[in-house]
Amino acid sequence: MNKFYFTTPLYYPNARLHAGHAYTTLVCDAYARYKRLCGYDVAFLTGTDEHGEKLERAAVAAGMTPPAFVAGKRAEIQKLWKLLDISYTHFVYTDRPDHTVSVQRLLKLAQQNEPGVVYKAQYQGRYCIYDERYISDGVEPVNCDICGRPAELISEHNYFFKLSAFQDRLLKLYEENPQFVQPDFRLNEVRSFVKSGLHDISISRKRIKWGVPWPDDPEQVFYVWYDALTGYLTGIDYAADGEDAGKRARQEGFWKWWPADFHMVGKDIIRFHAVYWPAFLMAAGLPLPKSVVAHGWLLVEGDKMSKSKGNAVYPEPLAALFDSETHGVVAGSDVLRYYVLRDIPFGHDGMISYEGLIQRYNSDLANDLGNLVNRTVTMINRYCDGSVPQVLGTPDDFDRFLLRRAQENASTTGEIKFFRDFFEEYNFSRSLDMLWQQISLLNQYLVSRQPWVLAEATTADAKEQLRVVLYTVAESLRFLAVLLYPILPHAATLLWRQLGCEDSLGKIENQRLDQLQWGGLKPGTKVGKLEPIFPRLDKNVALEKLLKLEAAEQEPVAAASESAPAKEGKVESQPEPKAPAPVAASGSVASTAAPQATAPTPTDQKISIDDFAKVEMRVGEIVSAEPIAGAKKLLKLMVDIGSEVRQVCAGIAEHYQPEQLVGMKVVLVANLQPRKLRGVESNGMIVAASVGDEGKPVLVTFKEDVPKGARLK
Ligand code: MSP
Repeated sequence: MNKFYFTTPLYYPNARLHAGHAYTTLVCDAYARYKRLCGYDVAFLTGTDEHGEKLERAAVAAGMTPPAFVAGKRAEIQKLWKLLDISYTHFVYTDRPDHTVSVQRLLKLAQQNEPGVVYKAQYQGRYCIYDERYISDGVEPVNCDICGRPAELISEHNYFFKLSAFQDRLLKLYEENPQFVQPDFRLNEVRSFVKSGLHDISISRKRIKWGVPWPDDPEQVFYVWYDALTGYLTGIDYAADGEDAGKRARQEGFWKWWPADFHMVGKDIIRFHAVYWPAFLMAAGLPLPKSVVAHGWLLVEGDKMSKSKGNAVYPEPLAALFDSETHGVVAGSDVLRYYVLRDIPFGHDGMISYEGLIQRYNSDLANDLGNLVNRTVTMINRYCDGSVPQVLGTPDDFDRFLLRRAQENASTTGEIKFFRDFFEEYNFSRSLDMLWQQISLLNQYLVSRQPWVLAEATTADAKEQLRVVLYTVAESLRFLAVLLYPILPHAATLLWRQLGCEDSLGKIENQRLDQLQWGGLKPGTKVGKLEPIFPRLDKNVALEKLLKLEAAEQEPVAAASESAPAKEGKVESQPEPKAPAPVAASGSVASTAAPQATAPTPTDQKISIDDFAKVEMRVGEIVSAEPIAGAKKLLKLMVDIGSEVRQVCAGIAEHYQPEQLVGMKVVLVANLQPRKLRGVESNGMIVAASVGDEGKPVLVTFKEDVPKGARLK
């Protein structure tokens, strides 16, 4: 059997994953299911990238040890993949003991194979801890070009990888294998980056403890990208390979799968995969992956979706919506997967919204496909006693509709071939466009042939025509079920069962595209009772419910912030108040000018230490500050609290210039319910003293150096 190995990136388990991360994984899952339908033995690897400074800081901020912290987050990620029905076969995490063996072995091989490729030298430069990447080799302050946060100055004695020695080899690789980076416009970007000159990179860290130890130098750990990329080897048993080389390794282990057929990545991490990774492997003398496939970003209102921007869309509320509104019939993961694969031309950025998703669901799934299935199953039940009709002769009608040349050879001609070609090119939206053209043709076919009129007629010819029409549509739906399975696994399985195929032809996931032949649906097959597979949703009700579900997910935090007492000097940012606003009501802001803010707390309203403990205050560093259009008192701040960067609106614009705030360490109330101010989400509250009659805000800050994320008690 042909084998196929591919990977998602290994996700950072520092924060909750959103629909952008889910996109990469859903695309890969669709691909895995498609490849299995093509008869491949598939290894589909995903996992978590658990080392590095970012994770170390997040663990400290959570008051946990790094291993305990990442283990908890890893479990949350695995739970999400279960919810989204991700059919991965391998899960690797970089805190696994055998991963240390892999990483150290890759280095050792490189040192043996290419002496001098790793050397020790002084490193000084700017590094973005959030994205774990070098921004510049200079010392001048600079912001990360991905996340915009200020890059930190690093200066230490490190081990370097001689990347500069690989420039020609990499250019030759791209020249000889233009499919190495896909889509092709990404190859051009990678090529120009390499042509512009490669610098050696530091692949170890001295000041970090949380990482894979450097062999024979306990002061250093591996640079997190060297470590994480090697996860693609660990996950398929690279560490075991040395112990059990030979037969077993070739048949089941590492050498059965390596080299990977592709690594799927977002466009932001293409350089690591298409430049660094092949160089690391070349140095070690290991075969290179066949290709690196990059997708674009999911955008919300034109902006990259991200937790720190407060615009992230999460898959859980979607799953809960479909679960409750359709009584478990529709899997929200199917709808999300269909929506992103259909709407976003693969490789490019694409805008998503709840509204767009519900719209797609109602028009494409409930209307076009759902109605076709309902009509067909109803009519077979009503006019043919619930059995697929027997057709006499070979009517021409078959030729006019779905998969018209399928009778000849499904895999080399006709729509199945196009479908496969589109999938092989990662052109998911076109493959779905094509299937929807077929669905639309079938709906038109029913309208033009009017089987409900044929059913009234008594002639033998009309009866035969009725059987032809119903067989044509039912058999076409059988093909569609199989072709849709990679994208709508849950719904396609229901359709397959409703057509009675599971009993006669086996499970849908065991079908093979090259064995789909017209006539496979046997006359006499009992179809199921009609149960709509895509009940229509009321758009407004669904949207309202989604917002509630989203808010409910935040409830534990909201409850704490609701009961959090707001006392003098503890309140800050404000929503351009017209009248004095209540002090730190349930939202993230309160009026600094509000007289309440300075009123002393009556003794009879004293709170217990437990009440106080409900307020989670953390040290944050302001990484950016900017005015908000149309709100002269408000500033939009991005505040790094170690584990994440929060967006907060603060009513301090009349008293602080944005420039003076950047780099300032402040106190953030971190467990307040998020609120929107002038359309901008505010996720937390900065603490300030409220001075004088006008309540001039004076930000609380620290004289001594305190780490970001430290909790105030
Ligand atoms: N840990 C590294 C990858 C190491 S692979 C050896 C990493 N992790 S990540 O969690 O930050 O990102 C994982 C993937 O999610 C990346 O491919 C990234 O492009 C993708 N996405 C994160 N936000 C996204 C969107 N808004 N839209 C689409 N994909 C996005 O990078």
